[in-house]
Amino acid sequence: MAQTAVRESFFASQNEPRHKILVVDDNPTNVELISVQLKPFNHEIVKAYGGEEALDIIRKEPPDLILLDLMMPRMSGYEVCRILKTDPATRLIPIIIVTALRELDDKIRAIELGADDFLMKPFNKLELVTRVKSLLRVKDLVNDLESSEVVVFTLAETLEAKDVYTRGHSERVAKYSILLGKQMGMNPVELEDLRRGALLHDIGKVGVKDTVLNKQEKLTAEEIAHIRTHPARGYEICKGLKSLKNVLPAIRSHHERWDGKGHPDGLKGEETPLFGRIVSVTDAFDAMTSNRPYRKGMYPLQAADIFEREINSGQWEPSILRQFIDLVRNSYKERDR
Ligand SMILES: [Fe+2]
Repeated sequence: MAQTAVRESFFASQNEPRHKILVVDDNPTNVELISVQLKPFNHEIVKAYGGEEALDIIRKEPPDLILLDLMMPRMSGYEVCRILKTDPATRLIPIIIVTALRELDDKIRAIELGADDFLMKPFNKLELVTRVKSLLRVKDLVNDLESSEVVVFTLAETLEAKDVYTRGHSERVAKYSILLGKQMGMNPVELEDLRRGALLHDIGKVGVKDTVLNKQEKLTAEEIAHIRTHPARGYEICKGLKSLKNVLPAIRSHHERWDGKGHPDGLKGEETPLFGRIVSVTDAFDAMTSNRPYRKGMYPLQAADIFEREINSGQWEPSILRQFIDLVRNSYKERDR
């Protein structure tokens, strides 16, 4: 008895931040059982008695952790888990599967769907509390990372906003990249990485001198070399953030060329990561269709015609460029020309 009390006070530290935990089970007794066990820990417990109800709650106000039953009528825990882990907005919420199933196959299936941990029914209180605590700690770290990310994205936005001619460039490149990625059959998580990579692709320009960046006259060889440092600079800025790991290729490799004559690494063909090959196309498209101090931007269909003529020029991957040309031609009517 005394031992239990010590354990409780150990886990129920008053310094712990308050978290929201969602308990999902079609059996109200099980929901109560878990809620009672977690009561001393100052968490906010939210209850759902079915998959759909859980998804409703999560969409309105995402919890910090979900305890999820597998076997529920209508929508199973597997389905709930799959939906949450394939949606970029909810995939980082830790899920603990609470199940009476002892079969290895069921566990493997839930792991494949992205579940973070398991508890076997009937569960041991100490085990429940330990797992909840450790996953909440992970969630807090993820939240910290997300706030560091916000700083990087704000930096990218501020950088562009300085110049009327680049304002909105990365947003548009992100929009075109997502359309292209969808066309290529990417899943929502890949699309989200692609979107973030496209938003940050030019962040390294923060280290390029304004006088060079904004120069209207022809650039000297030295100035060109200086501007060309921006992909590697961007990579250096973002590589410390683990959460940006998957977006680094879009930053470092968006000026590579299919024929190997690009920079900074001179990668050839599929050596250039896919995100780099995609953003090199959408970046060029936005440059062609945007106004510059010395010229007006061209119409999208004119840009598509130029791409068509240049499809085998060696700059871009032909099959990606083909898909993008088709996308542009399907999105604009001739009269927009
Ligand atoms: Fe660039």
